[in-house]
Amino acid sequence: MSRLKGKKYNIITFGCQMNEHDSETIAGMLTERGCTEVLDRRDSDITIINTCSIRENADKRFFGTLGQLKKIKEKNPDYVACVCGCMMQQQHIIDTIKAKYPWVDIIFGTHNIHRFPELLENVYSERQKVMEVLPDREEIVEGLPAKRLFKHKSFVNIMYGCNNFCTYCIVPYTRGREKSRKPEDILEEVRKLVADDVKEVTLLGQNVNSYRGISDKEWDFADLIYALNDIEGLERIRFMTSHPKDLSDKLIQAFVDCEKLCNYIHLPVQAGSSRVLKRMNRKYDREKYLELVRKLREAVPGITMSTDIIVGFPGETEEDFEETLSLVKEVGYDSAFTFLYSVRKGTPAAEYEDQIPEDIKHERFNRLVDLINEGSAAKNAAYVGRIEKVLVEGMSKKNDETLTGRTEGFKLVDFEGPKELIGSTVDVEIIEGKTFSLTGKLV
Ligand code: 5AD
Ligand code: SF4
Repeated sequence: MSRLKGKKYNIITFGCQMNEHDSETIAGMLTERGCTEVLDRRDSDITIINTCSIRENADKRFFGTLGQLKKIKEKNPDYVACVCGCMMQQQHIIDTIKAKYPWVDIIFGTHNIHRFPELLENVYSERQKVMEVLPDREEIVEGLPAKRLFKHKSFVNIMYGCNNFCTYCIVPYTRGREKSRKPEDILEEVRKLVADDVKEVTLLGQNVNSYRGISDKEWDFADLIYALNDIEGLERIRFMTSHPKDLSDKLIQAFVDCEKLCNYIHLPVQAGSSRVLKRMNRKYDREKYLELVRKLREAVPGITMSTDIIVGFPGETEEDFEETLSLVKEVGYDSAFTFLYSVRKGTPAAEYEDQIPEDIKHERFNRLVDLINEGSAAKNAAYVGRIEKVLVEGMSKKNDETLTGRTEGFKLVDFEGPKELIGSTVDVEIIEGKTFSLTGKLV
């Protein structure tokens, strides 16, 4: 019998949707072995910290959390502390953990999540620490369970890794080269999810537009969307993230042809200046990006858009930054994620000598966020009076009479209604547009 049965676990997740989904897989594997999830880590027998390398201060936050686990271990010597995720693919992080955080029992990487239960069994049976971090691997492990965060929507990985090597980014080093799942494995997973009441899937990959799945023939990303669109019972398809350099006309046509593909796209631009984009190795320029936006808007009227923007990339001048501001105005994003450029050890941009002083970065960041918020508020205000189809996701965190859900365009809507509506798509009239969400009433 598994030594894991009856154990209580707690997962702390940092970072992107990929990481959220990896945590769902870890939870799924532990649940399958008779473990239960607890929300307070002080009540747990096992804590797993799933780390991210992208965000600013990621190291600080991670090591701070790791420090807190020491107290639990002191009270309970059987307690098992585990760390995984992108940070573990970096040797200098592993060295620090070993030197300064000796209470960590298991270190594993991004390429061997499926091995975690076995590593855990080993720790319980041998009472030894284990570390298993693999550089990369060719094959994709299929059929892992997942404990979903939401009952009616689910993430589905379609590919892993990234080949793009944007000069600021650590992901190609921590997640390895691009590998696409087989189309039939993805379709099978989505069919099973739909049978389990899932209405919406979000296809995940660092660069979904370069999906190449090998079956009887080679499938590109658009082929996959067309096939998913035919699955009965599935209502909505979303995807992220898209690299502008690989966004094909065929995919734009899929927005037109596939009624389940939501009219929303997250299209990271990173910067508005072609000079900066070149130094970032993004492989498109300002004009090409704007041309893509124009094509999308023309083919898919009303499509909503969000983006990622980095402020203060090495060598960014005031003029370059103003080009970012003007691009934001020109596109009119519905929302945007903004990042202060931060050095990632081992990436080319970390070696660039013209790093931008912190105070200038912050000053630009604040100007950009103000502009984006102003744009979001204006876009959302224009929804007042419209009737939107909202897929109800759950109760609002604010109170238990308010439901929350998303429009096709990915806008969050709060409205009053009975909890029986969770999982269904309802018509909601928008009565208020705020910066980050809409308020509505059932019609
Ligand atoms: N500094 C700041 N932002 C970064 N991103 C990736 N690497 C860095 C970095 N070194 C941002 C990009 C990417 C998003 C997920 O994180 O905007 O699209
Ligand atoms: Fe990082 Fe660029 Fe790959 Fe995105 S496309 S994961 S930013 S290297």
